[in-house]
Amino acid sequence: MEDKRSYPFEAVRKRLNQIGDVILVGSGKGGVGKSMIACAVAISLSIQGWKTGLFDVDLHGASIPNYLSLRPPLRSGGKGLEPKKLGRLKAMSIAFFAGDNPVPIRGLEKEDLIAHLMALTNWGELDHLVVDLPPGTGDEVLSAFSLFSGKCRLLLVTTPSKYAFKVVSLMCKLAEREKVPLAGVVLNMSYMLSGGRRMYPLGRADLKRLKNVIGARIIAEVPLEPMMNEEPFQVVLKKNNQLTKALGDLTRKLSEA
Ligand SMILES: Nc1ncnc2c1ncn2[C@@H]1O[C@H](COP(=O)(O)OP(=O)(O)OP(=O)(O)O)[C@@H](O)[C@H]1O
Ligand SMILES: [Mg+2]
Repeated sequence: MEDKRSYPFEAVRKRLNQIGDVILVGSGKGGVGKSMIACAVAISLSIQGWKTGLFDVDLHGASIPNYLSLRPPLRSGGKGLEPKKLGRLKAMSIAFFAGDNPVPIRGLEKEDLIAHLMALTNWGELDHLVVDLPPGTGDEVLSAFSLFSGKCRLLLVTTPSKYAFKVVSLMCKLAEREKVPLAGVVLNMSYMLSGGRRMYPLGRADLKRLKNVIGARIIAEVPLEPMMNEEPFQVVLKKNNQLTKALGDLTRKLSEA
């Protein structure tokens, strides 16, 4: 059967040759803070002096433009589409094309779209490309695993919920099957500080269960920060010492690994 797809193998290969390391931020579970962690890690890597890109492959629920307060339109130049810039951080998302409109595509079209977006973007030389994965273990995740095969590691995000652990374990199994190494687990919204004491509004994580069910080590515990919903993300990152410290430590661990 004739292959009518237009997967840009060569153009993707050229872009990837200029990228040192790809950190996929995923979970399988929705709403656990993948996009927040992806944005925070990317901003932090960039502030620490690494040449960093942030690639949003959540085609149906892109969050990066909101977290970073970036909007269409995109400009194109001689070397491709110019990613949006936040300081030195380069960001690309389908939402920079679609704006507030839905993206009604399915199946292999998604794989092609992600590959084209990767190939068309003028990332230049990068030390790290951070990739924000959508919830689930479907098309976009499988596409990212294959697009970045051999160059990526997976940072898993979970909340303290035992129900989240179960779903995250599916992502773990998929990564193992696809030979994507794990960078570790981030326990997000793990605790909240009140008067210097740790409180556990989402319940305390059963770490033994987490180890048994997910089978990967925790590399960061990130506190719940109620201000997140009230202030622009970058203001929150600058204000909260515990949150910023946890995210800064996580980023250092990732860049040293
Ligand atoms: N540590 C935190 N403290 C407080 N709020 C948080 C924290 N982490 C994430 N949130 C909030 O939880 C919600 C979900 O976060 P986010 O969108 O990053 O999750 P997600 O896993 O990417 O979701 P989706 O599965 O839809 O892609 C957002 O409102 C976000 O601001
Ligand atoms: Mg998200």
